[in-house]
Amino acid sequence: MNLKQIAAERAAEYIQDGMKVGLGTGSTAYYAICKLGERVRDGLQIQAVATSEASDKLAREWGIPIIPFDQIGRLDITIDGADEVDPNFNLIKGGGGALLREKIVAANSDQLIIVADGSKAVDKLGRFPLPVEVVPFASEWTFKALESMGCFPEWRMNGDERYLTDNGNLIADCRMEAIEQAPELNIKLNMLPGVVDNGLFINMANIVILAKEDGSIDEL
Ligand code: 5RP
Repeated sequence: MNLKQIAAERAAEYIQDGMKVGLGTGSTAYYAICKLGERVRDGLQIQAVATSEASDKLAREWGIPIIPFDQIGRLDITIDGADEVDPNFNLIKGGGGALLREKIVAANSDQLIIVADGSKAVDKLGRFPLPVEVVPFASEWTFKALESMGCFPEWRMNGDERYLTDNGNLIADCRMEAIEQAPELNIKLNMLPGVVDNGLFINMANIVILAKEDGSIDEL
């Protein structure tokens, strides 16, 4: 078993009959969805909402009942991955481009469990480029505003085309190397009119499950 799988499968143990569950996105969340799929096949009864088209498709393939976000109500637990986790459980997410739906689903959950291999734990956020989701209208104007803020944005690409999120928006990956005041930056970014949201998840994670090189688990 690889480290992502170890962390994800541990998180899947938190899910019990009758729960409403948020399904994350990415290569670690993938294993959580597969484990829950196995448990659903064995009789676990849950309802779920997915944070991306990819996770929606995977969950349906496993037979996990997927409910539209606006119909499912409050979620008990969301299990998701992260690109960086700091000692205060603040996160950078969005490496897989699903940050907006991930943040909405996390905000609607009683508990957000983050699953990752130990390499995602950092002292300070920012080495991983911070994804900022930008509406295509006035994208260049928003890009320049990000430059003026000292965020060093670069458009995320998909081959020769600009990458598009599931919501039809662009992503500017901001290479800041170190983020000194993540809560303040989160607010400043989201105040820019062309920004839909950004990958800083501040005070959202409740439990962090990190699988370490020796196969042991840090459950924080
Ligand atoms: C997707 C995400 C992912 O959770 C994050 O990028 C971590 O991915 P992985 O588990 O593949 O390392 O935020 O938008």
